[in-house]
Amino acid sequence: MKFMNLGHRDHASRYVATEMFKEIHFNQCTLLGLATGGTMEEMYKELVYLLKVNRTDISCLETFNLDEYFNLDSNDPNSYMSYMKKHFFEPVGMNDSQFHLPDNDLTDVEEDNLRYDQAIREKGPLHIQLLGIGVNGHIGFNEPGTPFDSKTRVVELTEETIEANARFFKDKEDVPAKAVSMGIETILYSNRIIMLALGEKKAPIMAKLHQMTEPDIMIPASSLFSHSDVEIVMDDEAASLIE
Ligand code: F6R
Repeated sequence: MKFMNLGHRDHASRYVATEMFKEIHFNQCTLLGLATGGTMEEMYKELVYLLKVNRTDISCLETFNLDEYFNLDSNDPNSYMSYMKKHFFEPVGMNDSQFHLPDNDLTDVEEDNLRYDQAIREKGPLHIQLLGIGVNGHIGFNEPGTPFDSKTRVVELTEETIEANARFFKDKEDVPAKAVSMGIETILYSNRIIMLALGEKKAPIMAKLHQMTEPDIMIPASSLFSHSDVEIVMDDEAASLIE
C-alpha cells in the first residue's frame, strides 16, 4: 500500500484524474469502479476535461459505482445516480448501457445485488477501482465490522456516516438510513485501487491506517492491505497527522 501526499488538494485530484484518464485513453474498453462524495468532485471535473481535450473515445468504457442510497428515487438530486450524471456520465456523453449503479428499489434486492456482483465477475476484474474513505474508515458503504468477504448488499449506515453526509441534504432526517453497497470482496476484485482522501477531517483515519500493521475488521479500509496495487492519494491536510 503506497501512501502519497501530493500537497494541495488540486494536485491530488489531478493526479487521480490523470491516472484514470490514461487508463481510459489507452485501453478503450476500460472497466472502472467509481465513487461519489465531496472528495471526488474536483477529480471528475479534471477527468471530464482531460477526456474532452484529448478527444478520447469513450464508447467502450463501462463503469460500476460503489453504492447508492436505498430506496431513494434515482431522480432525487441526492441520489448517487444524479451525482454521477451531473459530474461524469452526462458531461462525457455516456449511454445508459455503459454505467451501472447497485439496484436500490425494494423489489428483488437480493437477486439484483447478486446480479451486480455477477456482472463484475463476468466482465472484471475492474481495471481501476476508485475509492474515497469515510471518517470511520468505511470504503463504499462498508461500515466498521463488515466481513472482508462481503458481497453487494443492503447495509445500515452508521450515525457517523449519516452525520457526515447530512451536509448534502436539507435535514439530517432526510439522509437515508440504508444504502446498497458493493461488498469488500467485490471491491478487491480489481487490478488497481486508487483511494483519494482530502481535507483535515480525514487526517485521523489516514494516520490510523498508516500506522496499522495488519487488517482490522473495524477499519474496513485496512482490507486493502491484502491487495497488491493500492495507492492512497492525500492532500497536505489529510496527511497532516501521519508521523
Ligand atoms: C461514495 C462512497 C463513500 C465515500 C466516503 C467519503 O460513493 O463510496 O465511501 O467515498 O463516504 O465521502 P466524502 O468524499 O463526501 O467525504
